[in-house]
Amino acid sequence: MAKTQSFSCSACGASHTRWSGRCDACGDWNTIIQATPLSSGPAKKSLGGKRGQSIVLSDLSTEETPPPRTLCGVEELDRVLGGGLVPASALLVGGDPGIGKSTLLLQAAARFARQGVKTIYVSGEEASAQVRMRARRLGLEDSPVQLAAETNLRDILTTLEVEKPGLAIIDSIQTMWADNVDSAPGSVSQVRAAAHELTTFAKRHGVSIIMVGHVTKDGQIAGPRVVEHMVDTVLYFEGERGHQFRILRAVKNRFGPADEIGVFEMTGKGLAQVTNPSALFLSERGTPSPGSAVFAGIEGTRPVLVELQALVAPSPHSQARRTVVGWDSGRLAMILAVLEARCGIPFAGLDVYLNVAGGLKISEPAADLAVAAALLSAREDKALPSDTVVFGEISLSGALRPAPQTENRLKEAQKLGFTAAIAPAGGKTGTVAGLTLTRPSDLVGFVGETFGAG
Ligand code: TYD
Ligand code: MG
Repeated sequence: MAKTQSFSCSACGASHTRWSGRCDACGDWNTIIQATPLSSGPAKKSLGGKRGQSIVLSDLSTEETPPPRTLCGVEELDRVLGGGLVPASALLVGGDPGIGKSTLLLQAAARFARQGVKTIYVSGEEASAQVRMRARRLGLEDSPVQLAAETNLRDILTTLEVEKPGLAIIDSIQTMWADNVDSAPGSVSQVRAAAHELTTFAKRHGVSIIMVGHVTKDGQIAGPRVVEHMVDTVLYFEGERGHQFRILRAVKNRFGPADEIGVFEMTGKGLAQVTNPSALFLSERGTPSPGSAVFAGIEGTRPVLVELQALVAPSPHSQARRTVVGWDSGRLAMILAVLEARCGIPFAGLDVYLNVAGGLKISEPAADLAVAAALLSAREDKALPSDTVVFGEISLSGALRPAPQTENRLKEAQKLGFTAAIAPAGGKTGTVAGLTLTRPSDLVGFVGETFGAG
């Protein structure tokens, strides 16, 4: 019988039946490699013939005790984990090189170790001396973390089996080398195999394993997407170079809410948690200027105020530019279209730039109205009152929809010294003392009230 071979693209992970010079899926050249199956030996013909064991079935009503969790004491991290670390869970922490993943995890390792969790930190990227030097810089040299510089996965797993830690950190998954897989470390098959081995090990031996993963240019964890599906929790560590803010975001969590964020600041002594992110994101705000609007958002379970900045200028190009940082460019196009179609305010021939201050990425539709406010303020060259927050979703008809958790947003605004809010009519608001609420029901009404008659 002819041996069936399979090939996969080392850039995007797509599988192919034949080798070719260019991957049809992502268009990259010279990225297709032969994939070796994880389990060696011929594929089993069918399951028939040999009987398996019968598995235990249970009712939906069977009581399940929630997993005991360990808090590390850094509130920003514990919250993103969904309320602490769950035993025997597998986590992936992704982020750009140099963003601070190793720093974060060394600090977390030290914290968990001090809580009495036996912790092993395996670095495949740096020598032990380098990690020790960093620990000294962070003031963590006395914490009971066990350290190793190793890339051989078989040796690492054997060590973990003997040492029986509660937590193991693998920095990074791209440097790990599984000797049963016939390709170089960092390749799709190696990353997949290493992640699979580590995840199964975590479940079988009751060890929590945190893997570090590098992110490719287009913002995905390098290696196949399937790694994200294998683990219980995927966290992204984001931030902008030149900014000291770092955001740890849960994009998937089997043990807690996704979309939760933790905010940190990179200091000379490592990462410090920021317990009041609104104050931080608004700290760079100067005197009220046209194009600036404060959005009262919700990130995960927590309200966060953030400044949106817009710039609108006549375009020298035949096709006007639309540039967005921290928000969805499709959503910006939609709001520009609604402003034009429903309010008669054209943006044709004008370059539009939109920026979320502080390096935060916003995905909530509730930011629509704040974006519209910033755009109009920039276009009309008229500053919004600096004591006002804005939020609400805009529909294609130009109607405004109330945002969830309105009361939490208003409370946060009041806490930070804002005295007015613009939010869509409808929905439950409650009353927040000291806050004047303007409640337009559609975009035309909002434009009229805020900027005069359009
Ligand atoms: P690192 O954790 O090595 O990033 P990653 O593992 O994601 O590649 O962080 C590297 C950067 O962090 C480096 O540019 C220096 C900076 N840094 C500080 O500013 N303060 C510190 O205390 C430490 C340890 C690092
Ligand atoms: Mg690192």
